[in-house]
Amino acid sequence: MRFLVIGGAGYIGSHFVREATRQGHECTVYDNLERGFRESLDPKLPFIKADLLDAKTLESTLEKGRFDAIYHFAAFALVGESVSQPELYYENNVEGVRVLMEAMRKLKSQAALIFSSSCAVFGTPQNLPISEEDPKKPQSPYGKSKLIDEWMIEDYCHAHGIRGMALRYFNACGADKDGGIGEAHDPETHLIPNVIKAALAKQTVTIFGDDFNTPDGTCVRDYIHVTDLADAHIKAATYLCAQKGPLYDAIHLGTGNGYSNLEILKAAEKVMGIKIDHKIGPRRAGDPAGLYADNRKAKKILGFVTRYSDLETILKTALAWHQEAPHGYNRE
Ligand SMILES: NC(=O)c1ccc[n+]([C@@H]2O[C@H](COP(=O)([O-])OP(=O)(O)OC[C@H]3O[C@@H](n4cnc5c(N)ncnc54)[C@H](O)[C@@H]3O)[C@@H](O)[C@H]2O)c1
Repeated sequence: MRFLVIGGAGYIGSHFVREATRQGHECTVYDNLERGFRESLDPKLPFIKADLLDAKTLESTLEKGRFDAIYHFAAFALVGESVSQPELYYENNVEGVRVLMEAMRKLKSQAALIFSSSCAVFGTPQNLPISEEDPKKPQSPYGKSKLIDEWMIEDYCHAHGIRGMALRYFNACGADKDGGIGEAHDPETHLIPNVIKAALAKQTVTIFGDDFNTPDGTCVRDYIHVTDLADAHIKAATYLCAQKGPLYDAIHLGTGNGYSNLEILKAAEKVMGIKIDHKIGPRRAGDPAGLYADNRKAKKILGFVTRYSDLETILKTALAWHQEAPHGYNRE
């Protein structure tokens, strides 16, 4: 299949491109490189350096490309930043999706649309594991922007015959098994890269809060290897392309297992064979005690399987990346 990958130079996008190419699909990447890296992509791949908000470039790309599926990974995704600068999130995350949906509507695009959403749409969940229909009460502008996007995509799909799907991720982690790419956010807010980077630099990692209502008091999260996420995205395109529109659905991508922050720390110590210094800091605003997915719908509809999402593989592949690129893509 032919894929347009908007935001394909970011962490999840670049892993998607790697896996999709490995599985024989053709990817064109569209990214403004504001938070992504050209180095994360094969230089031979078609690459368009442009902003999603640039409707003219987007429309001409869609017109020329005859894509089977369009992937939207192009969002800002820092919860704290979204609280202090919500305007960034309503512009990039919400307006970006509106520009994309408008382009698809105007051009009567026949492509399937696959959108990166997040468990942040639930805020503090009422039930665990979280199922797709559970009540949504996002607590940050980031989570709200994703929920608005989902509503907008659903409405455009039904009104304009588009086939779309929101995939709600839990914690994406790990790195490609063949090396060369990995997680390089700045600032990095995710636990696994922060634990590994602190351990490699012989620094202390901070765990945010140990007084949550969980077995060891630290937050419990659902960690899914980024290549398993990528594979599920390809399955989503296969599924949508076999359906007749209009169609919209939302599906959870997680393993269904939760690990506490301290369990992750201990697992990293085991994989690295060293003791990792940690301290307990205050809770982060809006961090729920537990977040893990009910993934039955993903298994049923997409045939979702995990091949890399055991903690050992996640940590080993992430470690290999951070050892290879201690400063991320900035090799200085
Ligand atoms: N990382 C996670 O654990 C996680 C969890 C849930 C949901 N998500 C969602 O997955 C998606 C990808 O996350 P990520 O961790 O790979 O983020 P990332 O920041 O690494 O990648 C985002 C990419 O999109 C590009 N981009 C952003 N705005 C753009 C625009 N207006 N025009 C063109 N390109 C633009 C950036 O340059 C970057 O390459 C996001 O939508 C995020 O909200 C991520």
